[in-house]
Amino acid sequence: MTRRKLVAGNWKMHGTSADLDEIRAIADAAERLKGRVDVALCVPATLIHRASDAVPGFPIGGQDLHHQEKGAHTGDICAAMLHDAGASLVIVGHSERRDAHREEDEHVRAKAESGLRSGLSVILCVGESDADRSAGRAVEVVSRQLDASLPREGAAGSNFSVAYEPIWAIGTGKIPSTAEIAEMHSALRERLIAAYGAEGQSVRILYGGSVKPSNASEIFAIDDVDGALVGGASLKASDFLPIVEAAAT
Ligand code: 13P
Repeated sequence: MTRRKLVAGNWKMHGTSADLDEIRAIADAAERLKGRVDVALCVPATLIHRASDAVPGFPIGGQDLHHQEKGAHTGDICAAMLHDAGASLVIVGHSERRDAHREEDEHVRAKAESGLRSGLSVILCVGESDADRSAGRAVEVVSRQLDASLPREGAAGSNFSVAYEPIWAIGTGKIPSTAEIAEMHSALRERLIAAYGAEGQSVRILYGGSVKPSNASEIFAIDDVDGALVGGASLKASDFLPIVEAAAT
């Protein structure tokens, strides 16, 4: 089955209104490539409103959400607030949140379900540590993580994506071999089909971790790589757009 690639930028804790011109440049290029590749930017919560106003129709997302609809949760934001600010998607379960905010699989699943229920597209992140990769248990660990974090409902189709992000590849310049990425993505595809039946074929599996203009084409050529979740190289249009173009060809 052919799945149009999705290249999403994760700006993490970078970006203020001074960066709106970068967002405009990225959205303009995405418009030119419409129909060949899907592009999105997940910016800090404080920037969502201004970014979505600056680039109407271009998908702007958040990087996390609370799984409940409202309540006494100081500092958190819920799906309705993301919608209200102009977001159309959200990342859940990024390893930086699983680690620093002690988010467990079950919690990540509740966040994914809340996002999907509200009509946001969801990118669910999974990935192994260096120790798990070295011990030869990367596929086993990530498959288990995916099984436990997968939303039980609403996940089929292009509104739900999985991002495989090996923790040791994030921000390090190191990436797994082509064979290792292929092995992992094929294992994750099997898990998606086990969970959702034939609908599991429509879920995009993105690769994330040190994706750059120099390695993007090679990564996108791997079977079952349906796009990328890009950190550092998504902050500047001049780095991000060559990656988007590689996905469009
Ligand atoms: P880098 O592209 O900076 O390695 O970050 C990857 C990532 O964590 C995206 O979510």
